[in-house]
Amino acid sequence: MSERYIESAVTDPETAEHLAHIGAVRARLEKEGRTGERAPKYYIQTFGCQQNEADSERLAGLCAAMGYVKTALPEEAELILVNTCAVREHAEKKALSIIGSYKHIKDQNPALIIGVGGCMVTQKARADKLKGSYPYVSFTFDTGAVDRVPALLDHALNGGKREFVLSDEWKIAEGIPIRRESKHMAWLSIMYGCNNFCSYCIVPYVRGRERSRSAEAILEEARALIDDGARDITLLGQNVNSYDGGPYDGRRVDIAELMHRICALDGDFRLRFMTSHPKDASDRLIEAMAEEEKVVKHFHLPVQSGSDRILRAMNRKYTAGAYLEKIAKIRASVPDVSLTSDIIVGFPGETEEDFQATLDMMKAADYDMVFSFIYSPRAGTPAASMPDQVPREVSSERMDRLLALGASIADRRNERFVGRRIRVLAEDVSKTDASMLTGRGDPVRPVHFAGDRSLIGQFVEVEITGAKTYCLEGKPVR
Ligand code: 5AD
Ligand code: SF4
Repeated sequence: MSERYIESAVTDPETAEHLAHIGAVRARLEKEGRTGERAPKYYIQTFGCQQNEADSERLAGLCAAMGYVKTALPEEAELILVNTCAVREHAEKKALSIIGSYKHIKDQNPALIIGVGGCMVTQKARADKLKGSYPYVSFTFDTGAVDRVPALLDHALNGGKREFVLSDEWKIAEGIPIRRESKHMAWLSIMYGCNNFCSYCIVPYVRGRERSRSAEAILEEARALIDDGARDITLLGQNVNSYDGGPYDGRRVDIAELMHRICALDGDFRLRFMTSHPKDASDRLIEAMAEEEKVVKHFHLPVQSGSDRILRAMNRKYTAGAYLEKIAKIRASVPDVSLTSDIIVGFPGETEEDFQATLDMMKAADYDMVFSFIYSPRAGTPAASMPDQVPREVSSERMDRLLALGASIADRRNERFVGRRIRVLAEDVSKTDASMLTGRGDPVRPVHFAGDRSLIGQFVEVEITGAKTYCLEGKPVR
């Protein structure tokens, strides 16, 4: 029996050609009697952001369509796909170490095929490293080549030479089947790539220039998702504010128009979006959040630093003052909004004074949650060759102070939910207590409440009785 996945229309001939290999692999497995109980297994290891998680769901969709069945144990797999991240050095090291650990599985099962994709191998030097030092890796594929995986696998199964795909153009491949991890929560990619070239960031080099999916394709996918039981949909893109879906029904579709149109679809669901660049967060987007009941009142607006000098060196194109004006506008339109941010500590040249400006920004912005990262030099980005790289001990010490401040602000922000009734989507059984469910509502933190697992996938009215650092607690209201 094949696995459940959603199919959609293929719109470009090149993708159609690549996806035709799905049938070839499937036919081969059928011929070998490798179906049903005897179907081969696939294992996918994912590193990095939500974009990568969404891409891994496409990889899983392709595997299921080819006739492979998911396993949680790499030792059982005949196909291992690793989806890598490159945003910080640590992510690359982890991926290389995992890939290294698969050698012994390959030694025991020579039929195993290992493919590596994602941001790390979209850099030529890394693809070359895998080619040279990891001979048991059969193929690599860049972030724009997910649709090529069936062809790469087909080729490897036929005993072909190892392949290392680095495309020179990034397109949008519509029609890749998707096997989603959750039935109730869904990523919905609306655009790919980034044009911003923040001086520390590798993303524009490994995800290419911005390109938006058509509003039609997105609305179709949203409809299919809702019909399939999705209750919490997150629109994904590196910078969703620059979404440009072209004209549709005689109107230009920007992010605000897209959200209005998705919200107009029938069904009980909620809509989120990730990520926004502060310079582009438009009034129209803020109004859409304020007006649309289905849009979750959460803005993730990465500030990165509170110092104007550092923001300039980062090429962020806004000042701390302009950022604070933007969030004042958001709070004026959406009074109870949850605001979250990304912050980099120890960017080249960051002084104690610059760092203090970042702490001041955190206080002024009153973030519900901050995701903080120690600056990691990325080869090929301008910041990697800037003078005055900050020593690790200094960054670590600053990070400790930032984390302590972030937690104290978040704790206080979290308290505001106590005593309120919140509509929570029951997501799963709590990991620590089987009689409790965990879910999410507008607050950024998960909500734990007593409930039966039959409620999973439904909205439950929960009265919040307590706030902890990492979660809220509550009881369902009949
Ligand atoms: N070093 C540390 N953090 C980084 N980020 C992006 N590039 C780097 C880097 N070179 C962080 C930014 C971004 C988040 C996804 O990762 O804060 O918003
Ligand atoms: Fe990287 Fe900046 Fe683009 Fe975000 S906006 S992906 S930080 S270059």
